[in-house]
Amino acid sequence: MKTIPVITVDGPSGVGKGTTASLLSNHLGWHLLDSGAIYRALALKVLNTDAETSDIDTLVELAKNLELRFESIIGEPTLVYLDGECVNHDLRQESCGNIASIVAVIPEVRAALLQRQKDFRVEPGLVADGRDMGTVVFTDAQIKIYLTASAKERAKRRYKQLKNKGVDGNIRALEKEIGARDARDSNRKVSPLVPADDAIVIDTSDLSINEVFQLCIEMIDKAGLKANLER
Ligand code: DC
Repeated sequence: MKTIPVITVDGPSGVGKGTTASLLSNHLGWHLLDSGAIYRALALKVLNTDAETSDIDTLVELAKNLELRFESIIGEPTLVYLDGECVNHDLRQESCGNIASIVAVIPEVRAALLQRQKDFRVEPGLVADGRDMGTVVFTDAQIKIYLTASAKERAKRRYKQLKNKGVDGNIRALEKEIGARDARDSNRKVSPLVPADDAIVIDTSDLSINEVFQLCIEMIDKAGLKANLER
């Protein structure tokens, strides 16, 4: 059976994984998995149903029955529908990111979401972004990329993003939040945020998104992976 190619892009929050993965999937004409959006959708469901983040049975039930649909058109942002409603805006809220990071610590929740992520691996190929794409979900990926940047640099980027949206941010508070999220994602027992042994680590602190993209393209060319031109 022919193996469907996968490129994984892992790393901490605010490192540019989403943008890099999306540029790569556009370039290759491959599918895109934003696995963080699945954890965030579960977090939104938790918030909407007032479930307790300590009630594992309920969280697992919610995770298993999550009515989630992704609608993607190449070159445009993926639309995420939860219970039939477009929730892109809600998913980006800090509250969702924080609850996502809290429920993502629970092994039973991760197990309940595993197959849903694997199912994204369809022809002609997949670019998957998250924390454990290369270490757990797609261990046989053809290329594993791990992006990193200092918490200070990521807080600066987030501050700029918020400012562009007309939202006031506090750079010190953002750095603190990012640090707390990193610690939770990195120190959990199951699927901690670490580069896979065979991942290529890129420190993006002093690189533009275009420079990161070019480095990835070089890896793809070297690996002989081909873009899908029939689209
Ligand atoms: O990438 P993100 O910020 O959208 O992810 C939100 C949270 O979801 C993150 O803090 C940890 C969790 N997550 C995870 O544990 N594993 C993944 N593959 C993706 C996200």
